[in-house]
Amino acid sequence: MEKLGKFRKIINKIYYKTFVDNFNFKLNYNFPNNYYRWDLIEYLINKNNYNSYLEIGCDKDQLFSKIKIENKIGVDPVSGGNIRKTSDEFFKMNSDKFDIIFIDGLHIYNQVKKDILNSVKFLNENGIILVHDCMPDSLGKQAVPRYKMQWNGDVWKAIVDLRQDKNLDIFTCEVDQGIGLIKKKTNSSILKIDKQINQLKFKDYYYNYKSYLRVIKLNDLKKMF
Ligand SMILES: C[S@@+](CC[C@H](N)C(=O)[O-])C[C@H]1O[C@@H](n2cnc3c(N)ncnc32)[C@H](O)[C@@H]1O
Repeated sequence: MEKLGKFRKIINKIYYKTFVDNFNFKLNYNFPNNYYRWDLIEYLINKNNYNSYLEIGCDKDQLFSKIKIENKIGVDPVSGGNIRKTSDEFFKMNSDKFDIIFIDGLHIYNQVKKDILNSVKFLNENGIILVHDCMPDSLGKQAVPRYKMQWNGDVWKAIVDLRQDKNLDIFTCEVDQGIGLIKKKTNSSILKIDKQINQLKFKDYYYNYKSYLRVIKLNDLKKMF
């Protein structure tokens, strides 16, 4: 994980709260406390007989080491996985396709959107893309530039953006920091919003996240995927 010095944290926090956003309400989610990203991935692999997995951003292999599948690739410029590159460098040289792709690299809107669109190009028919950290509970957890150690970034904005794409069908499951689920098929519920992505604030997310992200519970997910 990226190191964040004390001084940098303070400067970023002052900058963010002064010039970007200062909405201090907090959300309470019902993330199950006994079901995590590796459980969801195992469920999807078994249910769909998937045999290839790509993880973008592996850190210390907390997740990567738990995935049991025939072919697995983990991409991270710093640690973990088995390819030492950024996601952009990887997608430039890659020619393989995958059944399931887990995106958990740089948690900044532009990069997450790019990772999703690149993943779509390398997704097998009937494959699925998962995106971690879609549901921040507070302003600080989603602030860019970052000023908190526990950080989801503004991944949520990439989901809101692509919920408007007519060729991607997207849900977000209320589990393990919010996991986006993306299938390459006709969007069955195109999101309509009256703001540009760069105008969205945490206040917009706070009041609209259920429709913005199309949030579902784990039980619903298991009926649909
Ligand atoms: C939150 S951690 C990943 C955690 C892991 N996937 C898990 O489930 O526990 C994010 C990782 O993304 C990596 N990263 C940062 N920028 C990246 C990029 N451009 N491409 C790929 N990985 C990146 C970081 O080095 C860090 O190890």
